[in-house]
Amino acid sequence: MAKTSTSFFCKNCGASSAKWVGKCPSCGEWNSFVEEVIHKEKEEFKSTWKESNKGRSNKPIAIKDVEEGNEIRIQIQDKELSRVLGGGIVPGSVVLIGGEPGIGKSTLLLQIALQFKDLKVLYISGEESEAQIKMRAERIPFSNDNCYLYTETSTQKIGKALKEAEPDIVVVDSIQTLQSDLIDSTPGSISQIKETAGDMIRFAKETGVPVFLIGHITKDGTLAGPKLLEHMVDTVLQFEGDRHHVYRILRSTKNRFGSTNEIGIYEMQSAGLREVSNPSEILISQRDEALSGVTISATLEGMRPLLIETQALVSAAVYGTPQRNSNGYDAKRLNMLLAILEKKCGLKMGLQDVFINIAGGLRIEDPGIDLGIVAAIVSSYENVSVDSKIAFIGEVGLSGEIRAVNRIEQRIAEAEKLGFKTVYLSKFNKLPSSNQKIKIIQVSKLDEMLSYLFG
Ligand code: TYD
Ligand code: MG
Repeated sequence: MAKTSTSFFCKNCGASSAKWVGKCPSCGEWNSFVEEVIHKEKEEFKSTWKESNKGRSNKPIAIKDVEEGNEIRIQIQDKELSRVLGGGIVPGSVVLIGGEPGIGKSTLLLQIALQFKDLKVLYISGEESEAQIKMRAERIPFSNDNCYLYTETSTQKIGKALKEAEPDIVVVDSIQTLQSDLIDSTPGSISQIKETAGDMIRFAKETGVPVFLIGHITKDGTLAGPKLLEHMVDTVLQFEGDRHHVYRILRSTKNRFGSTNEIGIYEMQSAGLREVSNPSEILISQRDEALSGVTISATLEGMRPLLIETQALVSAAVYGTPQRNSNGYDAKRLNMLLAILEKKCGLKMGLQDVFINIAGGLRIEDPGIDLGIVAAIVSSYENVSVDSKIAFIGEVGLSGEIRAVNRIEQRIAEAEKLGFKTVYLSKFNKLPSSNQKIKIIQVSKLDEMLSYLFG
């Protein structure tokens, strides 16, 4: 039997050390070293596969000699994923998709695999049997005769299969189940993840075949395994949403080949994930009567304008310290808006509990929804509803001034398209052409807007 040896690894950056240390010399994290069994280096995962000219060149090359347009992307039918990736898959890229159990990571990637018509996809699963995957595939309304399943966890065996199959696209479900024979520690441990991810990345770079890795996340919502994993791959996507709701959001947190602002929205149905191409329609709830504390804001997610519903509930605080709770909106910003309302508009917010919710489980960082949030808070405070055909766009400054926001034309156009009659925005936003039918009310101060709305 091979002699076992152990080594210590940093949970944060993956650095190794022969003995335990309290502070990682590499990333400075405290108490992050764990012991793992290893025995090293006999045989390599090995580049026995056919190296392709699509892969990375291993000689230095003058920047002027690099051919442009080398980056021809593989087109994907799924528009949401395509946009989040920055317009298709870059050959040789490695994409890591993380998300809670049961959120739909396997469904999403199986569905993508089945959408390719002429490309050979190898779906490697260490989590489910072929029969289980087949059962899932039956529910999805796509089929690809060129999609192969392989249930294996050893990267050495996977390496051989990759050589034989010569796939065009590889999916690994999940990186935490893979295991390298060169290391004795259990699958999912830091040294295993580091090694197996390294193997898959080397394969992608040498052959030019894109690889999708599914990753588990830990209880606190970060990807399980060393932080290093995120540095190693080209793109990190998060698949989020509430398991009990049908909407799922695909968000990119790192992308070497595109913007990280884009999101993709899906709806989980009995026949797999459906792309939601017009999210505004689903994010705004249908209501018959006017409700207080509900307003609509026009925001942007990446390049896409989006109308969202901002909800507020203001009620007299029963305990000494009023509660402030915010779902989908920055809690510090909420406190700031409340202080502005108190100081500049004379509303007694200090005695009120305030709850904010962005409908649909979205998380919005765009300060352009401040105005809608303020209108919702005051609407709930005064118990007066705001006309449901009004949309709000604007950032609120510390002295109660309403500031201009970017890409105003698109936001207005989206509101108009969805049948809104009036839009409130900053006086300092330059308006595009004046041929829109929607009524535009420009305000410079918060109290000016509040007196329009609530008299
Ligand atoms: P899954 O892809 O297995 O999640 P993950 O890989 O992230 O753990 O998704 C599992 C959930 O999705 C499961 O609760 C059932 C549901 N589902 C549907 O609602 N419709 C479908 O067509 C499929 C395939 C799954
Ligand atoms: Mg799964």
